[in-house]
Amino acid sequence: MRFTILLYLQVVLLVSHISSELPKIIKVCPRSSSDLNKCIIESIELLRPHITIGDLGDNFTVPKLEPLSIDEIIIDNGNDLEANFKNLSVFGPSKFNVLNLNTNITQMQFDFDLELPSLEFFGDYSIVLNILIKFRGKGKLKGLFKNCKTHVKANAKIIDEQNHMEFTLDVKMKVSYAQFELQNLFDNDSFLSKLGNRIINDNYEIFLNELKPGLEKSLGKIFSNIVNNILKNSTYDEMFPE
Ligand SMILES: *[C@@H]1O[C@H](CO)[C@@H](O)[C@H](O)[C@H]1NC(C)=O
Ligand SMILES: *[C@@H]1O[C@H](CO)[C@@H](O)[C@H](O)[C@H]1NC(C)=O
Ligand SMILES: *[C@@H]1O[C@H](CO)[C@@H](O)[C@H](O)[C@H]1NC(C)=O
Ligand SMILES: *[C@@H]1O[C@H](CO)[C@@H](O)[C@H](O)[C@H]1NC(C)=O
Ligand SMILES: *[C@@H]1O[C@H](CO)[C@@H](O)[C@H](O)[C@H]1NC(C)=O
Repeated sequence: MRFTILLYLQVVLLVSHISSELPKIIKVCPRSSSDLNKCIIESIELLRPHITIGDLGDNFTVPKLEPLSIDEIIIDNGNDLEANFKNLSVFGPSKFNVLNLNTNITQMQFDFDLELPSLEFFGDYSIVLNILIKFRGKGKLKGLFKNCKTHVKANAKIIDEQNHMEFTLDVKMKVSYAQFELQNLFDNDSFLSKLGNRIINDNYEIFLNELKPGLEKSLGKIFSNIVNNILKNSTYDEMFPE
């Protein structure tokens, strides 16, 4: 009898310990839920204010979304573009909208559109770009993307015996308007620098297309890190109980 009680206690303690790893603010979505997509969207909505400031409660902190800090984005297409963006602060990511979520829970696949009305960014850049003319520069960068629509395919896989998950996000993006200010283009020649910026901004679609493949790859990694950080102590069974 005593043994049974002890065992029972141990099991209870173990279970409550495990489930305490899931941040309290994460809304659980039963696998069999008739509208799993709706449940997940509600869960994300509840998370928004917490991930915006990077505080998930119970001393669980993650990098904040507003502004989002990006250490480095390196883009080298092996041809006409070599760019390095460093120490970026991005304003606007917390204003995301999740649309058209399509979940296949048995495959652990989540497809959705992520809309970002406006992203404003500041940081350091260096670039050598050989389209239209040869651009070369290194200095401070300011920029604005408006009306970004991304399509995200997220795949999760179980990575250990406790059923912790790891997400890989694949991002395709479309930006309807962009504006850049690259200081010190052409080694501080202010005339060429102004001209270069004008050419870039008058032809932002061409520049975006050039940057896009590298940017999408980097965003995929950044988005994956964000999701994996938030869910690092959550298991599949806790998130999506039977
Ligand atoms: C958070 O951390 C502080 C300082 O380490 C501690 O006093 C407090 O009890 C912790 N709170 C929770 C909910 O774990
Ligand atoms: C997450 O899990 C790790 C290892 O189990 C543990 O060391 C860490 O304290 C947990 N973090 C939170 C925020 O629960
Ligand atoms: C990164 O940028 C911030 C301002 O946006 C600045 O305060 C900080 O010193 C920069 N860090 C590095 C390593 O350049
Ligand atoms: C999930 O994907 C599998 C394999 O592609 C498919 O057989 C199944 O019907 C899908 N389930 C839903 C709910 O879409
Ligand atoms: C361009 O200006 C920056 C600071 O404004 C300076 O650090 C750099 O040495 C200058 N480059 C040249 C080639 O003059």
